[in-house]
Amino acid sequence: MLQVYPCLRECRLTDVYTDLWLPIDEPYVYMNMVTTVDGRATIDGKAYPIGDDADHYLMRRLRSFADAVIVGAGTARNERVSVDIPEDMQHERVAAGKSANPRLVIVSGQGEVKLYKSLMELGKENLIIFGSNKSLLDLSDYASVHVSSHPYPKPEEVISTLRNQYGLTRLLLEGGPKLNAAFIESGSVNELFWTIAPKVIGKEGLPMVMPTSNLPVKTQLQLVSLYVSDSEIFTRYKFVE
Ligand SMILES: NC(=O)c1ccc[n+]([C@@H]2O[C@H](COP(=O)([O-])OP(=O)(O)OC[C@H]3O[C@@H](n4cnc5c(N)ncnc54)[C@H](OP(=O)(O)O)[C@@H]3O)[C@@H](O)[C@H]2O)c1
Repeated sequence: MLQVYPCLRECRLTDVYTDLWLPIDEPYVYMNMVTTVDGRATIDGKAYPIGDDADHYLMRRLRSFADAVIVGAGTARNERVSVDIPEDMQHERVAAGKSANPRLVIVSGQGEVKLYKSLMELGKENLIIFGSNKSLLDLSDYASVHVSSHPYPKPEEVISTLRNQYGLTRLLLEGGPKLNAAFIESGSVNELFWTIAPKVIGKEGLPMVMPTSNLPVKTQLQLVSLYVSDSEIFTRYKFVE
């Protein structure tokens, strides 16, 4: 693995992002996404085949710093969502007084959320669901459910509830593209970790950000770091005003 920015040096994959500094008192939203070189965030509706092992490792490394991982209902419907991290990272978390894995937050809108076995097994204290469909309350045995009065829960509402009711401030947004757009549009995202996988798909697939309304064009990013491993590029950007 080579770090290219802000300095040039060889390093090990296991050393990347280990000293990630995230504030704990205020909510901090960092987003992690992988796309192909031609900008696709899905291959046949899935994200996992895009990145290679290094991407999957760093995805878990980024999770290891999170109080909660947030995903959109579209992602939870299309993929088997999991927030598991490797045992060594779990030990680090537990030693720091945290739960072994971050909590999972699913943000729905007017649609339904179907819980498969692994989600049911997370338990009510580890699974939090937001949405506006009252049928979500039927899931209350398995999840902490928040029904919003807006058709789509506002990102600010999600973030403040996680902070005020659960004490969760380090929030990892793992997509998908529509929820990313809503969070970016509301000015709620602090950082982006974006992996560019050395692949061209050349067919339909969602982009990393898929606005359902107009995104402000002035969203500006500043590069924080850049790593390369086997032609796969790992970027970290800060959102700036
Ligand atoms: N490449 C990557 O790194 C990556 C990461 C994650 C996911 N993905 C891929 O992304 C795909 C799903 O993406 P997606 O964009 O269709 O779904 P999504 O962003 O995961 O979820 C969209 C859903 O979120 C709910 N929602 C809540 N607030 C919203 C708002 N303000 N605006 C719009 N929707 C809001 C709506 O649920 P209701 O339908 O209930 O109204 C909406 O349908 C999956 O196939 C997954 O593989 C890729």
